[in-house]
Amino acid sequence: MSTKSWAGRFKEKTTKTVETFTSSVAFDSRLWEYDIEGSVAHAKMLGKQKIISAKEARSILRGLNRLKQKIQKGQFRFSDEMEDVHMNIESALTHAIGSAGGKLHTARSRNDQVALDLRLYLRDEIAEVRRLIKDFQSVLVKLAEKHIDIIIPGYTHLQRAQPVLLSHHLMAYFEMFARDADRFEDCLKRVNVLPLGSCALAGTTLPIDRKYVARLLKFPAISNNSIDAVSDRDFVVEFISAASLLMTHISRLSEELVLWNSEEFGFIELPDAYSTGSSIMPQKKNPDVLELTRGKTGRVVGHLLSVFVVLKGLPLAYNRDLQEDKEPLFDTVDTVRACLSVLTEMMPKISFNKAAMRTAAEGGFSTATDLAEYLVRKGLPFRKAHRITGGITGYCLDRNKTLADLDLKEFKRFSKLINKDVFNCISTDVSVNRKNTYGGTSKKKVLQQIKKIRKRK
Ligand code: ARG
Repeated sequence: MSTKSWAGRFKEKTTKTVETFTSSVAFDSRLWEYDIEGSVAHAKMLGKQKIISAKEARSILRGLNRLKQKIQKGQFRFSDEMEDVHMNIESALTHAIGSAGGKLHTARSRNDQVALDLRLYLRDEIAEVRRLIKDFQSVLVKLAEKHIDIIIPGYTHLQRAQPVLLSHHLMAYFEMFARDADRFEDCLKRVNVLPLGSCALAGTTLPIDRKYVARLLKFPAISNNSIDAVSDRDFVVEFISAASLLMTHISRLSEELVLWNSEEFGFIELPDAYSTGSSIMPQKKNPDVLELTRGKTGRVVGHLLSVFVVLKGLPLAYNRDLQEDKEPLFDTVDTVRACLSVLTEMMPKISFNKAAMRTAAEGGFSTATDLAEYLVRKGLPFRKAHRITGGITGYCLDRNKTLADLDLKEFKRFSKLINKDVFNCISTDVSVNRKNTYGGTSKKKVLQQIKKIRKRK
């Protein structure tokens, strides 16, 4: 069992150090189910093409099926001696069924096999990540509907800029996650290509039927170039890249929630069950979950870089360096899944402090732009209206007043065009609801957007 399948041309046994150093079993064993799935299709094809006998094919299929059950039951031990998941499975098969097992690897190489396993694995993971994104998006939509009347300050430069609906802000994240889901879907097109049949790098002299294998494994396309098919890891980069953007969005949201949860902002309160305490300061309730969803973004973006660096100097075709694609990829999948799951659970349990949000929205001269636009409606060029409004703001700041504290006489000092209808335009509610352009923050437009999304589902 411990003789390596490639031992034929070697005079010495591999040292233990090398065995441990080169082994990928510790991480690629997670591909075992896909490895068997690929082998089943390959064996069926070999039998159909009479490259192996029908009896041998049947024996291989039976053996693989038994092995599958054994692994499922946790009765199989993957060993470093057998280098990787592929050789572990093949040698266990041969051990179980005898010489027919040695025929499974006909017209196949680990180079196209590992590319196949990775693609089968990613295909499933893309579906799972997309499902998790969708779940998270529905949490956002539900929150947006529930809190449709909450007004918050919208910020630019982290300075209060203009009042907006909290729902509008939440739906901004919905849009980001929609693009993320699209990116994964698009990436799937290039993942969903069958590399098997490329063999080591050149194809094979044996009469294989790649189209048949593609049908069995539900691949809509077959790779066109055998050299490319065993060297290509673009699809890994694409996946981690889509994941990096997704994590970046998760990170920005996390950062905002951390900020909003601070005593200084006081906009939200995180649920106790999703917060942690300090070992020294008894009063503390820390937003560790959000800090981790923010912090874990670093490792995913790091994984993107690490796969890029692995690929950049590689000559065609397969090189063992490519084994280094797996840990970054697997960790990316695990991280993204964990972050989406915990946020989906936590978000609905956050309490929003409507009063604190409104108070903040009403301060900071956040309706100054509305006042300038009021003057525009009275016929002033925008630049002039801007200057006048700036003057009014300065006047208020000097006297520690807000726009709402001014009387008409004071307004008129700055422009004769200002009448008593000005008081209507500087209220936060009016300000929000007048932003009634497509994509704007008015309640009407936000609700329309939500309705449109609900209909799509
Ligand atoms: N463990 C290897 C990997 O992950 C499998 C392919 C090995 N191929 C080879 N010719 N050594 O890339």
